[in-house]
Amino acid sequence: MKKILVTGSNGQIGFGLVQHLRKIYGAENVVATDIRKVPGPVSEGGPFEVLDVRDGRAMTERLSSAKADTVIHLAGVLSAKSEADPQLAWDTNMNGLYTALEAARANGCALFFPSSISAFGRTTPAKNTPQDTIQRPSTIYGAAKVAGELLCDYYHLKYGMDTRGVRFPGLISYSALPGGGTTDYAVHIYREAAAKGKYTSYIGKGTYMPMMYMPDALDAVVRLMEADPRKLRHRNSFNVAAMSFEPEEIAASIRQVIPDFTLAYDVDPVRQAIAESWPDSLDCSAAKAEWGFSPRYDLDSMTREMLANMPKA
Ligand code: SER
Repeated sequence: MKKILVTGSNGQIGFGLVQHLRKIYGAENVVATDIRKVPGPVSEGGPFEVLDVRDGRAMTERLSSAKADTVIHLAGVLSAKSEADPQLAWDTNMNGLYTALEAARANGCALFFPSSISAFGRTTPAKNTPQDTIQRPSTIYGAAKVAGELLCDYYHLKYGMDTRGVRFPGLISYSALPGGGTTDYAVHIYREAAAKGKYTSYIGKGTYMPMMYMPDALDAVVRLMEADPRKLRHRNSFNVAAMSFEPEEIAASIRQVIPDFTLAYDVDPVRQAIAESWPDSLDCSAAKAEWGFSPRYDLDSMTREMLANMPKA
């Protein structure tokens, strides 16, 4: 990667990734885009353009004027918000990806697409979910992710495009909040623990989901996009995760730092049903073997860093 255009730059991943890429590749070589401009490091730390990912002409023009060789296509609506507005979710997540692929094809760019654990469903083996397995999700978000994985593979097969992607688990970060996802509880719990010493979880006791700390996710994107293509047997999309936990386990980890922390439950049936349809843990051996995926953070090291960086009461 030399000249990169990122969509969805104000989102939870984009906020950190744009700054990470600018450190590695130079601020002027990372064009951040989003549907709106927000003051802060993303729009002020390097080139920034307003871009609606459904606008094919605008995206093609932006890629051409930036002389980009890579598109990191992050713009999308997360799972719970997608269930509340399936039409918006399909339009943004599917038509946005199609637009990005076509614009990337016209400009000879490589493209990164973030798939998700939502690309799996209730009929998928839930524990240590294999790289290649049943993918019959029951959410509009998951359906768009599976279709997106297939579409990216199609562009690779049909046009020789360099499309690559990972299936992200729940991502946890202190710098930018996720919005409208199912795994968001694992971010909110740290904020509330630091500010109030207690948290009420909308995800039920005993519900495991795969997770990863944001620095490992950012490192994974760079490693995958820089990997030798001859080593990639898979492309769209690789299982990646660093840990798997349920609410009681993250609470126990927080209690090592905040001994009086208390956890209560008020389960949201919509997000609980989504969580139960997703894997408990992932088999990431293909990502490790094909491009050296190697996350550094486990639950306790992530907890220490999250709590150290949270606003206190
Ligand atoms: N973290 C995402 C969500 O909860 C999953 O891709 O929607």
